[in-house]
Amino acid sequence: ATIKIDAGRTKKISDKLIGIFFEDISYAADGGLYAELVQNRDFEYSQADVKGGNKAWKADFAWTLEGNGGTWEIRKSEPIHENNPNYAVVDVKQPGQVALLNGGFDGIPVREGEKYDLSVFAKQLEGKGGKIRVSLVQDGRVMAQTILKAPKSDWKKMTAVLKADADADHASIKVEPLGTGKVALDMISLFPQQTFKGRKNGLRADLAQALADLKPKFMRFPGGCVAHGDGLHNIYNWKETIGPLEARKPQRNLWGYHQTKGLGYYEFFQFCEDIGCEPLPVLAAGVSCQNSSDCGHGQQGGIPMDKMPEYVQDVLDLIEWANGDAKTTKWGKVRAEQGHPAPFNLKYIGIGNEDLISKTFEERYLMIVKAVKEKYPDIVVCGTSGPWSEGSDYETGWRLAKDHKIDMIDEHYYQTPGWFIYHQDYYDQYDRNGSKVYLGEYAAHAPGRPNNIETALCEALHICGMERNGDVVAMSSYAPLLAKDGHVNWNPDMIYFNNKEVKPTVGYYVQKLCGNYCGDEYIESTLSVNEGRRGVRDRLAVSTVRDTKTGKVYIKMVNLLNHPVKGKLDLSSLKDRFGEAQSLDARLHVLTGNWDDRNARPKESDIKVKPEFDYELPAYSFSLIEI
Ligand code: AHR
Repeated sequence: ATIKIDAGRTKKISDKLIGIFFEDISYAADGGLYAELVQNRDFEYSQADVKGGNKAWKADFAWTLEGNGGTWEIRKSEPIHENNPNYAVVDVKQPGQVALLNGGFDGIPVREGEKYDLSVFAKQLEGKGGKIRVSLVQDGRVMAQTILKAPKSDWKKMTAVLKADADADHASIKVEPLGTGKVALDMISLFPQQTFKGRKNGLRADLAQALADLKPKFMRFPGGCVAHGDGLHNIYNWKETIGPLEARKPQRNLWGYHQTKGLGYYEFFQFCEDIGCEPLPVLAAGVSCQNSSDCGHGQQGGIPMDKMPEYVQDVLDLIEWANGDAKTTKWGKVRAEQGHPAPFNLKYIGIGNEDLISKTFEERYLMIVKAVKEKYPDIVVCGTSGPWSEGSDYETGWRLAKDHKIDMIDEHYYQTPGWFIYHQDYYDQYDRNGSKVYLGEYAAHAPGRPNNIETALCEALHICGMERNGDVVAMSSYAPLLAKDGHVNWNPDMIYFNNKEVKPTVGYYVQKLCGNYCGDEYIESTLSVNEGRRGVRDRLAVSTVRDTKTGKVYIKMVNLLNHPVKGKLDLSSLKDRFGEAQSLDARLHVLTGNWDDRNARPKESDIKVKPEFDYELPAYSFSLIEI
C-alpha cells in the first residue's frame, strides 16, 4: 500500500471530535461513578423503580436490622424535605442490642488507612435517646468506628470522619443507636475522602480518572433514554438535581433501578470543568421516549401545550444557571450558592434524544429550539435525527434541521463490524452547508460477542472517516460508557467495572488514542493498494490531522485484514517539518492482536520517520504516528 500525505491540501476540522457520553445505565451513576458507598441512603427505593421484577425492592431495600433489642419501620410524616419523604425509625428497647446495617452496592470496599466522610440526618422522636455509634464491619471485625452526638427532636445533620484500620471488600455500615426510644434516621451517607480531585459529594477516583485519561473534548449527559424518560413523569428534570442532597428528587431509572440524583447537574458541570471538557447537557424535547405519555393513551403524548411555556423556561433557566452572573441573575445566584460563583461557560445544549419525529414532537422541539436561539444566539443547539434508519425515506429530524437551520444534529447507530467496514465513506456525501453532525452514540457490535480488537478497529476506521469529514462531523461519542459487573443493562460498553477494578475494553484504547492525539486541521491523506479489491481496500484506512496550536501531526492507520500490509509512507509534503533533516524523531503507538483479542493494549515506541519510508501495518492493527 502507498500512503501519501499531502500537506498542501488541508481543511479546518472540528477540534471537539472525540468526547464522552455519560448515561446512568448499568449502574453507571449510583454504585458507579458517584462515590457514595451506602445503597438506598435516603430510603427512597420503591417498587415502581423496577416494574414488578424485584419484590424486595422497596424503601427498606439494602437495609437490615441486626439484633433483637428493637424494631424498625419506614415513616413518612415530617420528613427532612418533601422530595425525600421516607426515613427509618428505629425503636430501641435494649440499647447495644440493635443496629441498622447496609452492605452498600455489592459490599462497601474499605481500604486500610483511608478516611471516609460520614453524614447522617437524625432526630429523636420518643424516649430518652442517646448517642449513635457508627462502624464499618465485616465478618464481625470492626474496621472503623465513631460515636455521633445524641440527636435532638428536630432533624439535624451529623458528620464524622471514619478511618479504616484494615482492608475489606464487602464491609457494611452499622448504625447503632445507643439510647432507648424511637430515633429517626435518614440520608445515611459515606464517601471516601479520596474522590476525584478530592471533591465532596464527588466521583470515584479511579473511574473518573479513566474518563479523564481519554482527554474528551466534551461530555454529553445525563443520558439518552434517561434524559427523556419513558413517560412524562420520568423526564429528567435538571432542577431536581442541584442543591442540598436531601432536597434533590430521586427518581425511577428507566433501566430498572433507582437514581438518587446525588450525581446531578452541579456534579456533571463540575466534572467537565475538572477535566477541561465542554459540558453538553441534553434535555427532553417536551416529549419522552417515542412520545410516550404516562397514562398510555396512545403513542403521541407530549407535555400539554399549555404547560410548554413553563418547560421552555426550565430550559432557558439551565443556561442562566450555567452562565448567569452570580450577583445579578436569579439562577446564577443559585449556582453561586451551591459553591460555583464563576459561570460554567456552557456553549452547547442538546434538545431531544432519538425521538419519534411526530407532529407532537415537532411542535414542542421547535418551540424550545427557537426560544433558546432567540435568547442565547451563541449557544449551539444540538437537535436529534430521531431513531436512526439508514437509507429510508422515513421522516427524520434531518428534515427539521434543514428547514429550521438547526446548528447540529445528534445521530445514533450501533452496527455490525461489516457495516462499519463498508461505510467508511458514510459522511463523505453530507451537505457541507447544512447542520453539523454530532454522532452521539455509536459502537461496533459483533452479534453475541463482547467487544474485541475487531470491533475496536471498526471504530478506529470510522473515526478516520469522521476526521476526514471533520468539517461536517463536529463531535462524536461511543456508547454506552460505563457498566458495572452484575448490573449490565446493555452490551457492549466502553468500560466495565466492579467495586475494586476498572476494566477498559479494547475500544477504550481506540477512543483514548484518538482523544489524546487529535487536531483541528485535516491533511489530505490517500491510501492506494495494489490489490484493488473492495474487500481489501475497505479494511484499510488512513487519516492525518495537525494540531495547529502545537504543530504536531498525527497519522492514524488502520488495518483490519488478517495479514500484515507492507506500506510506503510518503511524507515528503511535510517539508516545513523536515527542513534540511533526513529524518525526524517520532512516536509510534500500535494497538494490535488476534482477531478476537479483548485484552490488546497500545504499545508505544520511538521511530524515525523520513520523507519516504517503509512501514508495515501489522495484521489487525491501529497505528498512530506522532510527529
Ligand atoms: O446507549 C444506550 C441507549 O441507546 C440510549 O439510552 C439511547 O439513546 C439509545 O437507544
